[in-house]
Amino acid sequence: MRAAHPLAYPLLSAVRRPVMRVPGLGVLVKDAALLRGVLMNTSGFSKNGPGAPSDLWTPVLGPSVLLNMEGADHLALRRKLGPLFAPTFVDALVRDSLGDATRDLTERLAAGERVDLVAHARRSASAVISRLVGLEDDVIDDELFARVSAITGFVSLARPRLTGPQLAVARGILSELGEHAVRAYRGDESTVPGRMRALGLDEREALGAVGAFVLTGTETIVSYLPRLAAILIDSGWLPRLARDRDLVEPAIAEGLRVTTPSPVMLRSTVHADRIGGVAVRPGDRVILATFAANRELGEFDPAANPAAQLKQLWFGAGVHYCLGAPLAMAQIRLTLDALLASPSLRITSRRPARGVLIPSYASLVLER
Ligand code: HEM
Repeated sequence: MRAAHPLAYPLLSAVRRPVMRVPGLGVLVKDAALLRGVLMNTSGFSKNGPGAPSDLWTPVLGPSVLLNMEGADHLALRRKLGPLFAPTFVDALVRDSLGDATRDLTERLAAGERVDLVAHARRSASAVISRLVGLEDDVIDDELFARVSAITGFVSLARPRLTGPQLAVARGILSELGEHAVRAYRGDESTVPGRMRALGLDEREALGAVGAFVLTGTETIVSYLPRLAAILIDSGWLPRLARDRDLVEPAIAEGLRVTTPSPVMLRSTVHADRIGGVAVRPGDRVILATFAANRELGEFDPAANPAAQLKQLWFGAGVHYCLGAPLAMAQIRLTLDALLASPSLRITSRRPARGVLIPSYASLVLER
């Protein structure tokens, strides 16, 4: 966290109060119940407006891409996209895009090779993005991940809008992906954009959804898989989990709780109101510090599993609850299975990523 956000992380961590106005940044919320209250109050707090995600993403992706929508239009688009995240569709997507790579990971680790789990996660994320965008298999490479994280790397808490040159780079990258997506949309149903057409999305909606998936669903996973591996190895939990598979799901939840790959959510205040003891006015930016709220419950502990109380707050809550959660969970389970096949793994080197939005390792080398 500190490597990714050397100023914001210590600043936000130092705040002891559950809610506080931080000059120049907004109203900071660190308490899980208050944070959930804001997320559930969609008429009072919006993803559209000053300081909200719309400031960042509307200029890049257009006005109708889920993560900057509210109300009936948002609900209608989510309903149309629902079948793409149904278990049968997700399982097939993950099996087709990651099956071979995960078998290869399992074999290399079992053979005693040194494996950089970050490189593996980036390649896997690129393979999944390629499916979502409708890219042909022969154009998949981990460059795709680098291009996506170049866009999110422009974002920081203190910089709520992209600059002109950053916007030009972001639009360039997404329009290149968009060209593939449009071709796939106009083709048959074997691609995700093609399937979107069959589900009744018009071309603009499908392109927007592809952009939203690319921006939300890649770095989060590339951040989480190596962080989960590092926690399991550092804490000695990897061999314990290999012996007691009943604790796999609590371990994944606990890992998500203590790492919170999407550490902060933003909202813009619509009506004058109070959050805890702090009065908010229309236009106030609300910074929901999920990472801090989640960590209030203590250290990683799959046996006690305090994460169970949080109703998956790491995926958000209410109408914007992470649409890709089933896809994320399928990817996490698959990779964790590969690690559990070599329970004596150790970390031979690690390096945190700097200048990124989503805290991550730049490399995490594992060996049996
Ligand atoms: C561990 C991985 C992930 C985490 C922790 C995560 C977290 C989140 C959170 C916290 C939100 C809500 C943001 C808010 O309310 O402001 C969200 C929304 C979203 N996520 Fe994820 N996400 C993950 C993976 C994915 C994946 C793989 C996809 C794939 C497509 C995805 C797609 C989305 C979309 C489209 C939204 C916007 C939903 C809406 O506004 O209606 N996410 N995610």
